[in-house]
Amino acid sequence: MTEVTVSTSPVASLPVDVLVFGVAQGSGGPTPALGAEAVAEAFDGALVGILGALGVTGAAGEAVGLPAPAGLKASVVLAVGLGHVADDGAYDTETLRCAAGVAARALAGTKRAALLLPVPTAEAVEAVALGGLLGAYAFTAYRTSGRNKPPVGELVVLARQADAEAAIRRATVIGAEVNRARDLVNTPANDLDPESFAAAVRAACDVHGVTCEVLDEQALTEQGFGGILGVGQGSVKAPRLVRISSTHPGARTSLALVGKGITYDSGGISLKPVGFNEIMKRDMSGAAAVFAAVLAVSRLGLPIEVTGWLALAENMPSGSAVRPGDVLRMYGGRTVEVVNTDAEGRLVLADALVRAAEDGPDALVDVATLTAAMRMGLGNRLFGVMSTDDAFRDRVLGAAARDGEQAWPMPLPDELRKSLDSPVADIANTGERMGGGLVAGLFLKEFVAEGTRWAHLDIAGPAFHEGEPYGYTPRGGTGCAVRTLVRLAQDLAND
Ligand code: BES
Ligand code: MN
Ligand code: ZN
Repeated sequence: MTEVTVSTSPVASLPVDVLVFGVAQGSGGPTPALGAEAVAEAFDGALVGILGALGVTGAAGEAVGLPAPAGLKASVVLAVGLGHVADDGAYDTETLRCAAGVAARALAGTKRAALLLPVPTAEAVEAVALGGLLGAYAFTAYRTSGRNKPPVGELVVLARQADAEAAIRRATVIGAEVNRARDLVNTPANDLDPESFAAAVRAACDVHGVTCEVLDEQALTEQGFGGILGVGQGSVKAPRLVRISSTHPGARTSLALVGKGITYDSGGISLKPVGFNEIMKRDMSGAAAVFAAVLAVSRLGLPIEVTGWLALAENMPSGSAVRPGDVLRMYGGRTVEVVNTDAEGRLVLADALVRAAEDGPDALVDVATLTAAMRMGLGNRLFGVMSTDDAFRDRVLGAAARDGEQAWPMPLPDELRKSLDSPVADIANTGERMGGGLVAGLFLKEFVAEGTRWAHLDIAGPAFHEGEPYGYTPRGGTGCAVRTLVRLAQDLAND
């Protein structure tokens, strides 16, 4: 894995292979940013002309390498675009994260590189370090040939802040945990089932001193988790409910996180057609995010009690699968008519939400790749945030924005609730198709204990990236929501 370090040494003599510097789009052409002084000096006044001749504009996403001039120990300098010149030279953190991510991707195969980016604050240092770690990510577990260059070995961030070391430590934990979530999402369902997922969680919790309890099929049956069992009953891979928790002597607040962990969603008897089923290993992204976030909160020593609930099942069609029309008895005793077996996420979440609320957390957040409708509405880069508490919803949105995750508020309109009425059971698992993401939210709301401060994150779009990499986002699992959850925990800890 890529290592990030901090240095204050003179740039010219840094023992690195590549020096990365920022270039912005100025009114007069490409404009080297703060931090690039030593590189510009070594080019002896020729740098801007060379950049122009190479077609470098400073646009975000650009990365152009050139041979380093004499006087620098490095052999290559790499210009990365920062977009429009920031008036005060202070680029927003997401711009820095993206630029560092672009650089890290371009640096694959390099041993050591220095990042000479404009970092006037510790927050900026953290953004550069995190962007570098996230951009350097590569999922190579299933490559047997050397098709991928190895990720850059070490990124040296040039920074003078007294608190730069602490900023890099925070970025290192968050980067590792986001990348852990990505690895899990990218792992195909033939190697990641509820049992092996739970085993991976237990192993990581043991390493980091986080408490982990796994409820297997027998425990789920004894305690009446009919939603999780019902969804899992068609698969030869038995379901699990995993509870992980971490506390701190200074904790005054508790946060419970619930993640949808469908290790593969075929749709079940309401089978998905070709074109919709081959992307469904991603359907455990919510559980992966919750797992990674709890570990990050614990490793960062945030003064909050945090509990994660991973509702793990594989949704398969078979002779033992739940049928459309079946009625499930959920944890806590309520009944659900399964109208469509492909609306399985809300069934496993309902059980976990009821159980999570029993502990009386101060806040409860669920994360799920829940509906195609949310993906249609918000696209592949934003997740939807629904809540019965507008102030709490805005806090979640604020946490997302602060860490560069794109999210948008979505409503829970009362009038859609009646579409979930069932002629036989307390509620049906599907209702009105229009506004399907909101209907799913309304279903979950029924299972959130009265008075619980709750938000629902539908990450169906941004959990997985299918196109070319951009910024610090690779192809495949993105680790969506991990940073938002950690920031929210930090925010709640300060209450
Ligand atoms: N896991 C899917 C939602 C999904 C779709 C996530 C595409 C990521 C990408 C979910 O279980 C599902 O199948 N939802 C159905 C619900 C419907 C049957 C009410 C949907 O959205 O079509
Ligand atoms: Mn489904
Ligand atoms: Zn699903």
